[in-house]
Amino acid sequence: MEREKFGSRLGFILISAGCAIGLGNVWRFPFITGQNGGAAFVLVYLVFLVIMGLPIMTMEFAVGRGSQKSAIRSFHELQPKGKNWGWFGYVAVVGNYLLMMFYTTVAGWILYYFVTSLTGGLAGKTPDEVGAFFGGVTADPWLQMLFMAIVTVGCFAICSTGLKKGVEKVTKFMMLALLAVVVVLAVWCVTLPGAGDGLNFYLVPDFSKLTYAGVFAAMGQAFFTLSLGVGSMAIFGSYLSKERALAGEVVRITILDTFVALMAGLIIFSAGFAYGVDEAAGPGLLFVVLPNVFNDLPGGNILGALFFLFMSFAALSTVIAVFENIVSFMMDLRGWSRKKSSWINCALMFVLALPCLLGFNVLSGFAPFGEGSVVLDLEDFILSNNLLPLGSLVYLFFCTLKSGWGWDNFMLEANTGKGLRFPKQIRVYVTYILPLIMLYVFIQGYINFFA
Ligand code: ALA
Repeated sequence: MEREKFGSRLGFILISAGCAIGLGNVWRFPFITGQNGGAAFVLVYLVFLVIMGLPIMTMEFAVGRGSQKSAIRSFHELQPKGKNWGWFGYVAVVGNYLLMMFYTTVAGWILYYFVTSLTGGLAGKTPDEVGAFFGGVTADPWLQMLFMAIVTVGCFAICSTGLKKGVEKVTKFMMLALLAVVVVLAVWCVTLPGAGDGLNFYLVPDFSKLTYAGVFAAMGQAFFTLSLGVGSMAIFGSYLSKERALAGEVVRITILDTFVALMAGLIIFSAGFAYGVDEAAGPGLLFVVLPNVFNDLPGGNILGALFFLFMSFAALSTVIAVFENIVSFMMDLRGWSRKKSSWINCALMFVLALPCLLGFNVLSGFAPFGEGSVVLDLEDFILSNNLLPLGSLVYLFFCTLKSGWGWDNFMLEANTGKGLRFPKQIRVYVTYILPLIMLYVFIQGYINFFA
């Protein structure tokens, strides 16, 4: 069977950006920044995007394009005879499932807020009532289950129709609409009275607020936002033609992703401070800040609904992209048809997502990191602080070591085609220095996380 290809270059960039841009930008980035002291954290995060994100995304795409397979088979395909890198494919599968185990619940919240804004359910609430409303949503397992199911079934249905017909078309539209709306909202929020303190927190670094645990979190966020380390991006490399060299595409995707995150931060912190919401509120931050903004505006219901609609787009484009991975794992591994793989995985995914949403209510007695923490925190920690950085290290070793695919093969694949080339001068940096930095941040992060 010939491998499907993207319909256009813009399609590839937007769909990969669609995989990168998501809740990581609009929900996770602001709340992690809020918990880790603001601007200094943002700065470290930006540095990590450049020094870690760019090279590792290029490697993921190269492995995908070189092997023409999803992560479950790509290492088998490219490893030298007698070597055994293939095991990592299974880790990648686990990582993709784990990501979706909490992502679909949060995407469900966003979708529910869209419906509620549209029907005026958030109108006229005081900031305290808005906070209580979010508490009510997470306390209700059935409501969350319903919206998680809509997200899961809807996105698998899109994947089951195929790459070009389904995934590329839908994602292209969603991404363009989202880019337009975040700019308008950001401009509007920074002019709110009281936004200045929020901008100060978000944009003026205070390094005394930065801890090792914060640096560790910044590394996790850099990998999370770019979907790196578990082959989520590699799959799109496998659908990519050889016309363009990879580094240029990687830079474009990273710029788009960073742009949306920075805009989301502007929106949340200027509005958050204007309405007196605690910036360290955690995963609820987005949901307790924004309805207040819309409530104060004439026509706020409609604007709120539009905002949550586009936020849903960001989340759903990531869900579709990661489901696309999950679907193709089984197609590559077992030779299942796209439809069969979609619907079996759909049922499995629904069940796997239940612990996260039950963690807020039925299972709330389970507090993995002490009082107030929930299943979502545990799943997110295992993925973002462990699987993503360690998985990224595996890609890095695979592309630089002789016992793996090796530097020469990687460079040949990355630099095939027109456009920006991966610079050969940084070989020593990527091979020796970058893994040491990653391991150092990881070990120090662990020591400090549990201190
Ligand atoms: N990269 C994805 C996001 O940021 C997982 O939401």
